[in-house]
Parts: sequence; C-alpha cells; structure tokens
Amino acid sequence: MQTLVADHPLIAHKLTALRDINTETPVFRSLTDELVTLLAYEATRDVRVEHVSVQTPLALADGVKLTRPAPLVIPVLRAGIGMLDGMARLLPKADVGFVGLARDEETLVATTYATRLPADLTGRDAFVLDPMLATGGTLEVVLGMLASRGAASMTAICLLAAPEGIARVHAAFPDDFPVPVKVVAAGLDERLNERGYIMPGLGDAGDRLFGTI
Ligand code: URA
Repeated sequence: MQTLVADHPLIAHKLTALRDINTETPVFRSLTDELVTLLAYEATRDVRVEHVSVQTPLALADGVKLTRPAPLVIPVLRAGIGMLDGMARLLPKADVGFVGLARDEETLVATTYATRLPADLTGRDAFVLDPMLATGGTLEVVLGMLASRGAASMTAICLLAAPEGIARVHAAFPDDFPVPVKVVAAGLDERLNERGYIMPGLGDAGDRLFGTI
C-alpha cells in the first residue's frame, strides 16, 4: 500500500480551517468539498486512460480518454457522502456505489449495514471516500469488499489519517498485494485517543458535516 499525504499550502490552509472548532457546518461542508477536489487531482494520477486521436480545427492531435469501464466512487456512509460532490467534479462520468458501516463506540469494531456495489469490478479503478482513517477497521472491510469483486486498483481519499489506521490497512494490503492500493490524505495526525478519535483531528466528521443527531 502506498500512502500519500498532501504537501500543499492551500490544502494545509483549508485543513486548518476545517479543524477549527468555530467552523460551522456550512463552511465545514464547502471546505470538505474543496479539499476533496484538490485531493482527487492527486488520487487520480494513475487512473487508466487509453490513447485516442482528436480532430482540432487545424489537424489531428494525440490525446487520451478514460478507459471503460468507468471508475467507481464509493462514499462510506454517512460522512463520505459529504465528499461525493468534490470527487464527482473531477470524475463526472464515474459510477457511484455505497457502503454503510457503523462503528461500535465501545469496541470500535465496524459493522456493515448497507452495501450497494456492482458484483463485478473487473477492470475498474475504485475510489473510496471516507474522511477519517482512524483505526482502519472500516477501510480494511471496504477495501476487502472491492478486492473480492476484482477491482483493478483501490484508492482511499481521506481528510485525516492516524498512524494506527495507516499501519492496519498497510498490514492488510501489503506492498506485494496483487492490486495497487493507495491512501491519499490531506493530513497525518499524531495518534488515536482512547475513544478511537484522531488527535488533534477535527472531531466527528459526520456530525460536523451534517449536524449532530
Ligand atoms: N471518526 C471521526 O469522525 N472522527 C475521528 O476522529 C475518528 C473517527
């Protein structure tokens, strides 16, 4: 598994505003949207393309287009939904699947409650959207589902990652895993606290995106 932590002043600026306890939901949502688009640019660096010719007003030019089947974008419910528009802006022709996982706040174990994915992902680049890579339990399950369906590559886009989560996903998908696996994050934080929250983090991403239920 390859890990890429964005190193860009605009991303760092927006991430700082996102962390701020005084940033309210509407601004949090639009910052998330902008950050995901910036991260998506990097996350799609290896997306599969094929060579084509295009007729300009003057001559034929060489170009590329995205290979079929279209990439699949998978927001992890609930908080990943807040990342979908930012991703779709760069990949408007991508198909969208959904996976819902809920974390038991006592055991920190993630349980799947919804899966809407194509049965066969052969030849597809898959992009998982989950803002917080904390324990890594959720991402391990989701990547496992995608791998078992034959995805050609798997890339997770996260706002923040914890070292514990990166280590767990790396252990599950080591460098010799037959499918390329990448995690792209806007920031890598220090650690998890005893409740499994990323420190210093930004709190509960779902609550901050959608309000506390
Ligand atoms: N989920 C969140 O929303 N925040 C964390 O810090 C960890 C998991």
